[in-house]
Amino acid sequence: MKRIAVLTSGGDAPGMNAAIRAAVRTGVSLGLEMLGVRHGYTGLIAGDFVPLGPREVGGIIERGGTMLGSSRCPAFLTEEGQVAAVRQLSRGDVGGLVVIGGNGSQSGAHALSQRGVCVTGVASTIDNDLVGSDVTLGATTALDIALEAIDRLRVTASAHGRVFLVEVMGRRCGYLALMAGIAGGAEAIVIPEAEQSPEAVAMAIREAYRRGKSHAIVIVAEGARHDADALSYYFTQHAERLGFELRVTKLGHVQRGGAPCAFDRLSATLLGAAAVEHLNADRHGVLLGITGGRVTASALADVIHAVKPLDAHLMELAQVLSR
Ligand code: ADP
Ligand code: F6P
Repeated sequence: MKRIAVLTSGGDAPGMNAAIRAAVRTGVSLGLEMLGVRHGYTGLIAGDFVPLGPREVGGIIERGGTMLGSSRCPAFLTEEGQVAAVRQLSRGDVGGLVVIGGNGSQSGAHALSQRGVCVTGVASTIDNDLVGSDVTLGATTALDIALEAIDRLRVTASAHGRVFLVEVMGRRCGYLALMAGIAGGAEAIVIPEAEQSPEAVAMAIREAYRRGKSHAIVIVAEGARHDADALSYYFTQHAERLGFELRVTKLGHVQRGGAPCAFDRLSATLLGAAAVEHLNADRHGVLLGITGGRVTASALADVIHAVKPLDAHLMELAQVLSR
């Protein structure tokens, strides 16, 4: 294998750049020629390759986003799209591919692997919904950003004795909401893994006031059935009976835009390097992640259909701590 390409796909995550940098510099040190693919699978289908050397990936370890660009690429879900991608790789004489991305992107990596491409994945998404890594790249930075916002919101919530609903990202996964809720001292946490009725959430807030609290923060996962909009609608409809004043903040894409924290930079560096080392050693069809503090490789076939469970103990702890 002489030439390896790297792409970033799906939702960008802080740490992707650090992973690109580590992959490129590791590849060069192994005597390989390194290429970047612009805009994920969209660029792969179009053959949009760019040569990358050590200097091209300088000054990016501290930057969020991805220097290569990313995309959601519906065309890659089709047979024609995947065949075109394989053709571009062979036309460019690319012997191996590193896919840095989340669950969907790794499903794409597996599809390529099934078509004979030597591919390794790097677990990277703020949602932390990917099996094969305890915490995916970007999730810890996104959590820090959410916490900073929650701390600020608590200041004004406390000044006015208000309830704040804070909606965090995560797709169908409640990881960010649960962790932000615990670390931010939330009075209630609403996640898809443990759905609650709006009335149950309202009662939790009423109870918090009854116990002497002067304000409340409710962290809501965007993927919960009763998301911030649904809860806000319900609370507004029952405002008189419930008797609290409400404000809603959706953190949205702000959570994706931060500079990667130390953990994400270091993890990304280890995983980017390992992804290339695996390809160079002819070990492919695997997702590189960090499990129990060590770099691990899991078969893509095993991780892409698996659902990552939330820690039940943490869910119980969150309730205890909200007292
Ligand atoms: P993420 O990787 O962050 O989970 P997406 O789910 O949007 O983001 O996936 C990113 C891209 O990966 C999709 O736009 C598509 O091109 C590709 N992809 C997703 N699911 C599959 C699949 N089952 N098979 C092949 N490619 C997929
Ligand atoms: O997967 C990362 C993520 O930020 C999710 O948390 C969120 O639901 C989604 O991407 C948003 O996607 P987009 O940036 O395409 O709007």
